[in-house]
Amino acid sequence: MSAPASSPISLASGYGNFLPPAAAVEAATRVLLAGPLPVTETAGLPELREAVAAAHHSAGGSGPTAANVVVTPGTKVALFALLQTVLRPGDEVLLPTPNWFGFRELVARAGGTLRTLPLRPENNYALAPTQLRAALTPRTRVVLFSNPNNPTGRLYSRAEVAAWLTVTQEFPDLFVLSDEIYNGICFGPEPPPTLLSFPDPGGRHLVVNGFSKSLALVGWGIGYLLAPVAVARACAAWQHATGGGVPAPQQHAALLATQSAGAITSGLIGQLHPTRRVLLEALADLPQVPPVAPAATYYAFPDLRAYLRPGPEPAAASAELVARLQTAGVAVVDGATCDAPGFVRLSYAVPEPLLREAMARLRTALELSAC
Ligand SMILES: Cc1ncc(COP(=O)(O)O)c(C=O)c1O
Repeated sequence: MSAPASSPISLASGYGNFLPPAAAVEAATRVLLAGPLPVTETAGLPELREAVAAAHHSAGGSGPTAANVVVTPGTKVALFALLQTVLRPGDEVLLPTPNWFGFRELVARAGGTLRTLPLRPENNYALAPTQLRAALTPRTRVVLFSNPNNPTGRLYSRAEVAAWLTVTQEFPDLFVLSDEIYNGICFGPEPPPTLLSFPDPGGRHLVVNGFSKSLALVGWGIGYLLAPVAVARACAAWQHATGGGVPAPQQHAALLATQSAGAITSGLIGQLHPTRRVLLEALADLPQVPPVAPAATYYAFPDLRAYLRPGPEPAAASAELVARLQTAGVAVVDGATCDAPGFVRLSYAVPEPLLREAMARLRTALELSAC
């Protein structure tokens, strides 16, 4: 498959070119063919909530129960449910950046004020506990992480997360919200640590996840949240009042996907290895671009600041760079939307011939602009 030179190739989508797992499709089909659909419990099918809780148990078998889980129509809804439940008027959400552009609007619509904590690419986006402590104020109600991180692909280790939690535990009113939607797309030896595997004496740890990235149910509209029981109940009540439970076919597909998560993620990793290599080699070959080594997700987030036109302020210069690439036939996500102007997010969850062609176009466009 290769695109004619005139048709744009998108490396901008956040959703991969994954086929849904056959067993999940069969499970959904069985429910559809079985007669009238049941109206589901708002918080989700008990067996799915139990499976999700069990997937977050630590090696010793302790961890959340079904009462901590609410199944939602996607991860965005899970994030919104949690934010609008815990935020009070005047509350702030602290977001280390770069981070997924969707958080900004979710926080605003849930009535919060977003405050960012910029991390440095030179430092591989490390967040030192002292930096975190200095950024927390009495108004901070939530600190929000994505681990693995979209857009940088950075995976924060168990030791790093543990160090942050020694700080957050000094603030009894503070919730820690961890978006773990990319937790199955990892290329290192260590899987990302779930926030739920750390002690939470104050009942302040919140997790969201979904099925559209790591479990290949792209477009199926299903995710979940895990929270202390009182918060989970409040989220389910909100979902009941404003919508309802996720339809049964998606929930049965999600149950199958949860039960076969290991096989599904290994399949995706196998599919992504070749395109990951193509993208990282093409980036390593670009002059003036610092090396990137994303440990997780299917994105790279290269620093193209050397190719910004001098003059305009950073966000405008970044938009101009992205427009230049678009004119050359490659759509990318502007890093300015993630608080990193001059960077671009590139997805390699695309067919290899298209990726090769897209990277050739990108290189030509950058070389021309350097002349
Ligand atoms: C970090 C992160 N969280 C949440 C979402 C939304 O996921 P869903 O499709 O399940 O609503 C995305 C989608 O790109 C994402 O990147």
